[in-house]
Amino acid sequence: MPPTHRVAFLGAGTVGAAAIRRLQNVPGLALSAALVRDLDVPRDLGTRPPRLTTDADAAIAGADVVVDVMGGVEVATELMARAAASGARLVSANKAALAERWDVWGPLVRAGRVGFEAAVMAGTPVVGPLAGALRGSSPIALHALLNGTCAYLIERLEAGTAFDVALAEAQRLGYAEADPALDVDGVDAAHKLTLLARMCALPELAWDEVRRDVRGVRGLGPALVADIAARGARVRLVASLWSDGARWRVAVRPVALPADHALVLARSGKNALLYRGDAVGEVVISGPGAGAEATASGVVADVLDAVAGRPGPVPPERSVPAPAEASAADDFEPIEVA
Ligand code: NAP
Ligand code: HSE
Repeated sequence: MPPTHRVAFLGAGTVGAAAIRRLQNVPGLALSAALVRDLDVPRDLGTRPPRLTTDADAAIAGADVVVDVMGGVEVATELMARAAASGARLVSANKAALAERWDVWGPLVRAGRVGFEAAVMAGTPVVGPLAGALRGSSPIALHALLNGTCAYLIERLEAGTAFDVALAEAQRLGYAEADPALDVDGVDAAHKLTLLARMCALPELAWDEVRRDVRGVRGLGPALVADIAARGARVRLVASLWSDGARWRVAVRPVALPADHALVLARSGKNALLYRGDAVGEVVISGPGAGAEATASGVVADVLDAVAGRPGPVPPERSVPAPAEASAADDFEPIEVA
């Protein structure tokens, strides 16, 4: 008999429940426990659910793999650090914790002990490619649609739906953060941009540096979206890493893009990454960036890697110099949202 790997979950909400349902019949895995806040919340955890507990120590005790699908920054980071200290491999969909507490997460990520594909663009692979196949090129720029809630919102605004109605729909679909302000104010996209930038160019990029230049879509309405569409452009919330000719720059902001831009051609409502590398040229990866099942797909893949002993993605050993030629996206027209 192959060994049984014990997998514990911190959280069994939108993403956690979907990952639990997908993992519970995988041979060689035992889903040992799931930490929740409220044992009485109704949840669909399939036919072989883990034991639910409100005791964090009991949840992680003896686990070979611990999965963070609880959200938040400090509590999640502290629990995952404890799990790592007891020898567990880590899987995380929690981009906020990874972005903001790199002092704790960085050494673990550099040691290959953390899978976090689901933290950026859900189950659509981008972390793995940046840490793997795209390493053969030096990065020139990266522009991306990284928030599924905003992508959905903008699609609904284009169809004439009011902002608050569209946001409530995104929440019902399980796309939004527990605090949707993180989505609409661009903070979630900034968390993800921080992780992508660290994986391809700036392994020590500080969260405080990224958060300085972050604007979201709060206040965007169907009228402004329609005005921009009438002149053949489209509104998108774009997260960017580029060179100003001397140093790397990062920003998240709503922009008007030409209708034939690669980020617009990505299917409506989806996430997309446009990567420019010196050797490979332009690479576009697009797909779902939020939602229970799409995110569970990335979590499941990371758990399978962890139990197989495959290392997680690691950042470059040192910073990649910014290209001497400015790589700003001059076809990006920033838009002001009231
Ligand atoms: P969620 O539905 O709010 O689930 C959070 C889960 O964690 C719940 O089961 C909750 O318990 C538990 N929890 C939260 N704080 C806790 C605490 N202090 N102690 C014990 N249990 C606690 O959130 P979600 O949408 O699944 O997202 C989870 C994580 O995945 C977040 O980091 C999010 O950013 C990330 N993520 C989400 C998506 C998505 O599309 N939703 C996509 C990619 C990444 P109760 O159920 O008892 O309240
Ligand atoms: N709230 C996030 C989003 C979930 O809308 O993209 C996926 O990370």
